[in-house]
Amino acid sequence: MSITLNIILRAVFGAEGAEFDELRELMPRWIRFGATIFAIRPLQWDWGPLSPWRRHLAMRKHFDEILERLIRRAESDPEFDTRTDVLSLLLRARYDDGSAMTHEEIGDELVTLLAAGHETTATSLAWAFERLSRNPHVLQRLVAEIEGGGSSYLQATIHEVMRSRTVIDGTVRTVRADRMALGEWVIPHGMNVYVAASVAHNDPRNFPRPDEFMPERFLGRMPDTYAWVPFGGGNRRCIGASFANMEMAVILRTVLSEFRVLPTTERAERVVFRGLPFTPGRGGRVTVVR
Ligand code: HEM
Repeated sequence: MSITLNIILRAVFGAEGAEFDELRELMPRWIRFGATIFAIRPLQWDWGPLSPWRRHLAMRKHFDEILERLIRRAESDPEFDTRTDVLSLLLRARYDDGSAMTHEEIGDELVTLLAAGHETTATSLAWAFERLSRNPHVLQRLVAEIEGGGSSYLQATIHEVMRSRTVIDGTVRTVRADRMALGEWVIPHGMNVYVAASVAHNDPRNFPRPDEFMPERFLGRMPDTYAWVPFGGGNRRCIGASFANMEMAVILRTVLSEFRVLPTTERAERVVFRGLPFTPGRGGRVTVVR
C-alpha cells in the first residue's frame, strides 16, 4: 500500500515535499473513512459538529488546501508545459468552449484516481506474493526468467494472479435501451446487470482446471477479452489498467531481484472482503531473505 500510494502521489498528483507528506497521511485515512460513509446512508446526513459527515467535510477542506498549494507549485514550475503528472495534464486541459476545469473538478478526478488505483494495485500485489510463495515451481521459473532479463512469464504470472484472485469481484451496468437480450434472458429498461468477473474466471469452460495457479495458460498469448475481466470491460473499462500492470511488473521484478522469497507449505490465505477489494486474509505476508 505504501509503495502504490507513493507512486500515485508522484505520478498523478505530481506531489513532492510537504504536500507529499501531508497527502500520505491524509488520503488513506480519508478514503477508508469515505468507504464507510458511502456504505451507510445515514452517515451522509449532517447530524451536527461531531457527525461523521462533518469530519468528512473537514478532511475534504484539508485536501482542497493541499491541492491549491500543489496547483500553485505546478503552475509556477518553468517546466509546467511539459510536465506529465496527471494534475498538470488536467490543469492544461480545455473544454470544447476553451474553458479550463475548475479546481474542484480537478480535485474530484485526482481523488477518484487515488481511491480506485492504490488499494486495488496493492492488493493484487499482495495476492501475487501469496500465490508465488505457495507455488514454488512458478516462483522458481519466474526468478530464473527475471535473472535472465526476460518478461513473458512475468506478464503471464500477473494475468494469472488477477484471474485466480480477482480483487474487484465484478462491475455493474444499467440497461438503457427498452430491453436487452442476454442469452436466454430479456432484461427490461432500468435493471442493473452485475458482471461477475470472478465467476467467469473460475469457469472451467473459460479456464480449464481453474483452481490451479498456472501462469502457463497465458504464456505467449493475451487473455480473452470477454473471459478475463479483472479490469472490467467496454468503454468504462478501468482507465488505469496499463498503469497498474506496469506498476506490478516493476515491483515484482525489483522485489524478486533483490530478495529471495521463501516458499511456504502454509494453507492458502482466505479471501476477505474489505469494503472494495477482496484481499488475502492475513495480508499476503511472505518471508524474504536479502
Ligand atoms: C490491479 C489494479 C486495478 C484493478 C483490479 C482495477 C479494477 C477496476 C475495475 C473492475 C473497474 C470497473 C470497470 C468497469 O466497470 O468495466 C475499474 C474502474 C476504474 N479504475 Fe481501476 N483497477 C486497478 C487499478 C487502477 C489504477 C492504478 C487507476 C488509476 C491510476 C484506476 C482507475 C480507475 C478509474 C478512474 C475507474 C473508473 C473508470 C470509468 O468509470 O470510466 N484503476 N478499475
